[in-house]
Amino acid sequence: MVKKKKKSQNLKAELKINNKTYSLPIYDSTAGEKVLDISKLHQESNYFTYDPGFSSTASCESKITFIDGNKGILKYRGYDVAELATKSDFIEVTNLLIYGDLPNKAQLNKYRKLIARHTLLHDQIVNFFQGFRRDAHPMAMMVGVMGALSSFYQDSLDINDPHQRQEATRRIIAKAATIGAMAYKYSIGQAFVSPKNNLNYAENFLHMCFSHSAEKYKISPVLAKAMDVIFILHADHEQNASTSTVRLAGSSGANPFACIAAGVASLWGPAHGGANQAALEMLEEIGDTKNIKKYISKAKDKEDKFKLMGFGHRVYKNYDPRAKILKQVCSKVLKHVGIKNDPILKLAIELEKIALKDNYFKEKKLYPNVDFYSGIILRAIGFPPEMFTVIFAIARTAGWTAQWTEMTEDPIQKIGRPRQLYTGKVKLKYGQNRSTKNTR
Ligand code: CMC
Repeated sequence: MVKKKKKSQNLKAELKINNKTYSLPIYDSTAGEKVLDISKLHQESNYFTYDPGFSSTASCESKITFIDGNKGILKYRGYDVAELATKSDFIEVTNLLIYGDLPNKAQLNKYRKLIARHTLLHDQIVNFFQGFRRDAHPMAMMVGVMGALSSFYQDSLDINDPHQRQEATRRIIAKAATIGAMAYKYSIGQAFVSPKNNLNYAENFLHMCFSHSAEKYKISPVLAKAMDVIFILHADHEQNASTSTVRLAGSSGANPFACIAAGVASLWGPAHGGANQAALEMLEEIGDTKNIKKYISKAKDKEDKFKLMGFGHRVYKNYDPRAKILKQVCSKVLKHVGIKNDPILKLAIELEKIALKDNYFKEKKLYPNVDFYSGIILRAIGFPPEMFTVIFAIARTAGWTAQWTEMTEDPIQKIGRPRQLYTGKVKLKYGQNRSTKNTR
């Protein structure tokens, strides 16, 4: 049954085109912007709406994550992310995101066991890895192997079966860390390390990445907590590019493993999840505080493609709350690993200070985002920059599966099919307008 949305009582919207007036229903939200319903506009008026980058478009109704970009607030299912980062752990947060409320003790214990049961990968996936070049980017392996899961776990592909849907989400979350660690081991030429189910999710990931046959990795509680906080803070972020990709792929009825692989691909780009790698590489390129001014000028120069990586956000027009938490975690981790005066952290803090005082950044409301400090933490834990986006992807499997589940269970859901403003040629006869350029 289709549940009716709550129409706003006092507000009305009308759109006038050529003396004809169209009424647009307005729906109330529980927090944040209300929406204008334009779903019937084309049918009634023969006009499309135009919104490149979807800056003004709510593509779905969701109860999962709320962001107030002006105030710098991020909540999962109504809980402030800062509170979850201190009081919860990643596995509990995945449960919260998927099922909608915090689990009780018995539910959580059962769920932890179910996730732990799925950490192993089918043994043939090891052969699958051998097909990648040794120098392949770990994200290339992540996209490929995530998609390949649909060929190994054919008993959880039926999206119309709620049990299979749940089994698929658990498999994706549990196996993401194992795949990520395998991608890392493969890229450095070491043998894969099996998961250990007596460890928690973050500890297990560190174990699979840093243990090897000659030496057992001693898991530091400080680094494991930092890893866990990074997973929590990256777990979901409303309808961002990769989540919208997962929803769009899923809207056609594609299987969950294929949809999540599509999300991983979208996350890889430097404007999205790839920014953490790009931010650390940028700090290394700047190299010294004396070069900051030069790079700030480059970032402001319209003719220059350079952007301050780890700065700015489509939604946050204030300090990203995740960056605030990670700045503190960063100091703790560096202290723990004995880096007293990390020149890169010093550079990052100075760059942030100078940018936040600069009129260009102030006027455009560009603040540090989640990627500004996460790279410094991950590097201190021992990860190379190519692994940063993989870690983001592992965490985001929580949000992607929660959003995919919500979409699949939404009675209103139908295939996503945007339209366009066509500005190409019409009515050509074959042979007319043949190209004379020799550049293709
Ligand atoms: N450095 C310099 N100028 C910037 C930056 C930046 N980092 N970010 C935005 N601007 C400028 C941009 O050039 C534009 O200027 P103008 O109005 O003169 O054309 C204005 O600010 C608005 O930016 P926009 O690109 O229209 O904003 P957007 O919402 O389309 O893009 C963004 C958001 C995150 C893609 C962009 O800020 C960016 O490229 N930042 C650097 C990459 C980055 O850190 N990405 C991680 C995002 S957080 C993690 C995640 O959720 O994936």
